[in-house]
Amino acid sequence: MTRILTLTNHKGGVGKSTSATNIALGLTRVLRKMGAPNNRVLLVDTDSQGHATLVTTGRNDFGTEDSLYRVLMADRQQAPQVMADTIVQSHWDADLHVLPASPLLEGAERELMRVAGAPYRLAEPLSRIADHYAAVIIDTRPSFSLLTEMGLIAATDAIVPVEPRYLETVGLMSVIEKIADIRDGWRVPNLRISGVVVTKVDTRVRGHRYLLDQLKQHDILGRLFCGVIPANEAVSYAHSEHQSIFTYDPQASAGVAYLKLVGTLLHRVFKAGV
Ligand SMILES: Nc1ncnc2c1ncn2[C@@H]1O[C@H](COP(=O)(O)OP(=O)(O)OP(=O)(O)O)[C@@H](O)[C@H]1O
Ligand SMILES: [Mg+2]
Repeated sequence: MTRILTLTNHKGGVGKSTSATNIALGLTRVLRKMGAPNNRVLLVDTDSQGHATLVTTGRNDFGTEDSLYRVLMADRQQAPQVMADTIVQSHWDADLHVLPASPLLEGAERELMRVAGAPYRLAEPLSRIADHYAAVIIDTRPSFSLLTEMGLIAATDAIVPVEPRYLETVGLMSVIEKIADIRDGWRVPNLRISGVVVTKVDTRVRGHRYLLDQLKQHDILGRLFCGVIPANEAVSYAHSEHQSIFTYDPQASAGVAYLKLVGTLLHRVFKAGV
């Protein structure tokens, strides 16, 4: 079964899109290097801001006919085909495919609110095409809105990026509980909370080191902890050039850390040796 990883945290700006895009490309590249029979990865952007779409395709003008919006509005029987037809290739790598977001997704939440079965409108078609891919990565918006619920219902694994700030880490348990609520409320027993990634870490900052230690020692969060991404300004430069961190600067500390995280995820989530 293809693992479907959803990056989520209702806090804004914690590195969900940066992590989703670079994990997706990192998986494609590492699987290719391992000689895996299939190294195609699908990135699904459920955030109307479309940041993951913009950096991986160079476009932010997807709309009614060529974005996730079209899939969510499609007739249920036709949705898998519509999904397959809507997916585009990333300019980052031919084996990285993208289901683009659109600003219209904001309105789609309201339009779908009263539609029966709305929360499953991503999971159902995705389950029909996921086995074309070695992995699917879903980026979500900074809230537990209907679209984020859709992303979690479709997932096998939830990954939570978090910044090393006191209030963020205090709120982390409530994020974990919210994901568990969605799993139980929408009956998706296969959804696991598989990792917490601490982003934008500056180990010269005492508070960052302290919060990292606290997290690692925590009963539940310590077990979920799966990686640290350093604060690295190359990330912003890479974004502005619509490049991955690996291409922008192969030596960048954040890129090295994302590759290490991909290795950890392959062991932990995919159970593959690297
Ligand atoms: N490791 C890093 N080092 C430095 N800056 C970073 C790092 N990761 C992300 N950023 C910057 O932080 C900002 C937020 O990152 P990103 O867009 O990935 O967060 P997000 O959680 O997806 O945000 P949103 O909640 O708005 O969707 C961006 O400007 C990005 O360039
Ligand atoms: Mg984002």
